[in-house]
Amino acid sequence: MQQVLEFLKTNEQWFVQELCDYIRFPSISAQPHHKDDLRACAEWIYVHCQGMSLQAELFETPGNPIVLARTFAERRKDRPHFLVYGHYDVQPPEPLELWTSPPFEPRIEGRSLFGRGACDNKGQHFAHLKAVEAYFKTGTDLPCDLTFLIEGEEEVGCTNLQPFLKEHREELQCDAVVISDTGMPSLKHPALTYALRGIAAMEVVVNGPSRDLHSGIYGGSVDNPALVLCQLLASVRDKNGRIIIPGFYKDVVPLTTYEKKQLARIPVAEADYKKLLGVSELFGERGFNWNEQRSSRPTFEINGLTSGYQGDGSKTIIPAWARAKITMRLVPNQSPEAITALVEKHLKKICPPTVRLEISTGHGGEPYVVSPTSPLAQAALRALKAAFEREPILLREGGSIPIVNDFKRILGVDSILLGLALPDDNPHSPNEKFDLDAFSKGMAMAALLWPELTASCKGESSARRTSAKKTKIKKKSAKKSKRR
Ligand code: BES
Ligand code: MN
Repeated sequence: MQQVLEFLKTNEQWFVQELCDYIRFPSISAQPHHKDDLRACAEWIYVHCQGMSLQAELFETPGNPIVLARTFAERRKDRPHFLVYGHYDVQPPEPLELWTSPPFEPRIEGRSLFGRGACDNKGQHFAHLKAVEAYFKTGTDLPCDLTFLIEGEEEVGCTNLQPFLKEHREELQCDAVVISDTGMPSLKHPALTYALRGIAAMEVVVNGPSRDLHSGIYGGSVDNPALVLCQLLASVRDKNGRIIIPGFYKDVVPLTTYEKKQLARIPVAEADYKKLLGVSELFGERGFNWNEQRSSRPTFEINGLTSGYQGDGSKTIIPAWARAKITMRLVPNQSPEAITALVEKHLKKICPPTVRLEISTGHGGEPYVVSPTSPLAQAALRALKAAFEREPILLREGGSIPIVNDFKRILGVDSILLGLALPDDNPHSPNEKFDLDAFSKGMAMAALLWPELTASCKGESSARRTSAKKTKIKKKSAKKSKRR
């Protein structure tokens, strides 16, 4: 293992350059005109995996390609198999004028690597790839089989991955999925994330007159769609930050005392948090602190609001329409379908007859929780501790990775979330970056992970390992763990 870690250290600068090449692709899945860039990016990572001696394959989908890269030509049934998931697509970089340097021209300043997708998610799964390269290049035996699954539609809801999982269920059978696509509070606080919020997206359009109208000639006699939309949306929340759509909280499972205690351990002071976000006051649902609000309470957010004239100067019109892009973050046990139905019912009920309401639902993902005390989780915590030389903490995070529920449903396995993004990495914002120390420690963690996870698997009862020989292994390590 020492050799593997040394290899990673020695070649770090080279790996950073490779990562820069990866970041140069404007693989923006939300924008259809970047389709070819997504393909080029997929092909680049596919060729890169082949170059690392992985058995790589590129799969066409109705959307963007999916890349599988395996450490084996044939599965060895006597050892565990893990899936490492990542996504090569990125969020739109707009507004471009707020970037210090262009989003797809990676720039290094100190220990920061700037670029769209640097931390979300190219840099994070690249760390896992490089760890495996280190095993290969140093001739070190990997104790388990690995399959990398790198897709290009995570930022638009993983539309084509779910059918892919179903179709490839057999070859993707594994003991767990490992994902680095979340965060950690600081380099001194590596983290295992054991819960993610779910998400439900929708678009609301308020239609008024058949065209933009002169607001002087007609104003007062015809309703204003922009104003109606504002009133509709403003009605969803009260002054205490509670969503007042009937039934919105009915399925919410409250935090346990243990969880509240874990959340209180997050080492970020409120003043620093405000400074980081550029706000003078925080706002959130009364009765919960900001760590609870952003990780384990549901929300209703307007992500985009458009209507009327946006150009220079003024234009006196009553806009023909107004549109809002909305997402709700969900927590156990809320479901995207149930929540969108409630919101739709509420908006329809209060919408005045002077306008026509059009509601469409978008992507959705259920919330996710996994036990932080399972043998796999404990093994992951040991790898984090060894790589970062600090006691890891347990996190519930507010972001969403909808596919984790499909891993559970379709493959029957849990996801181990080992995030490498720092609080000031700006994912989805201008000037996204990835911290090069997080990259460096992340590669070490990724290398240390496989022996730990493999050992913990051997102590687990696994439906896939039922032969007598395997039962023996199980007993042996059960004894071992007792001794500890
Ligand atoms: N990496 C994020 C998810 C994330 C970030 C989880 C930080 C926890 C902490 C992921 O790439 C992402 O942004 N997902 C989208 C999903 C959506 C578009 C369906 C999200 O959460 O907005
Ligand atoms: Mn993202």
